Amino acid sequence: MTRQNDIIEKIDKPVVLIGLMGVGKTKIGSAFAAKLGLPFEDADEEIVKSAGCSIADIFELYGETAFRDLEEKVITRLIGKENSSHKKVVSLGGGAVMNPSIASLVWDKALSIWLVAELGTMVERTSTGVQVRPLLEKGDPSEILKELMEKRYSTYQNANIHIHTDRNSVKDTITEILKEIDQYYA
Ligand code: S3P
Repeated sequence: MTRQNDIIEKIDKPVVLIGLMGVGKTKIGSAFAAKLGLPFEDADEEIVKSAGCSIADIFELYGETAFRDLEEKVITRLIGKENSSHKKVVSLGGGAVMNPSIASLVWDKALSIWLVAELGTMVERTSTGVQVRPLLEKGDPSEILKELMEKRYSTYQNANIHIHTDRNSVKDTITEILKEIDQYYA
């Protein structure tokens, strides 16, 4: 049995990626899941499917509170009790674990991985691509991300594993995650 198979064997709960916008949760999560041959679910994508409109539209038409309610429902379905032993990779939107109900689900039922990047990296990554992030539309994205770092990092710190994503390629980041998971189960 290879080391990678050995690690897959050990995983006994959903591997959940958390962290601020632009750290690479979806990109790294989907590549990591593909490498391990595990299913990948993106909470934001599931929210969009469930609402039938984009996240930007949910914020604009129904407000952030409605988005957070839906986020809780969707994430509870993805990593809630009945699914808790499933081997899969799930990436969450940056604000998800700021909701105490989601946070306790994640800390209790999942193997949590906090992806961390420098402010400049997050600013750059969120300024390109098609995804509209309503929270960053409210002002200077760099200032907003800085405020979110101050507000959220003490919560993100609770994750089982912390991984820096800006210095490494996706491939190297995946290798690092595998190493950390191996150590977590050692
Ligand atoms: C949010 C992050 C977004 C999305 C929504 C709110 C946040 O997801 O859930 O726009 O509160 O940080 P990403 O972190 O995947 O960009």
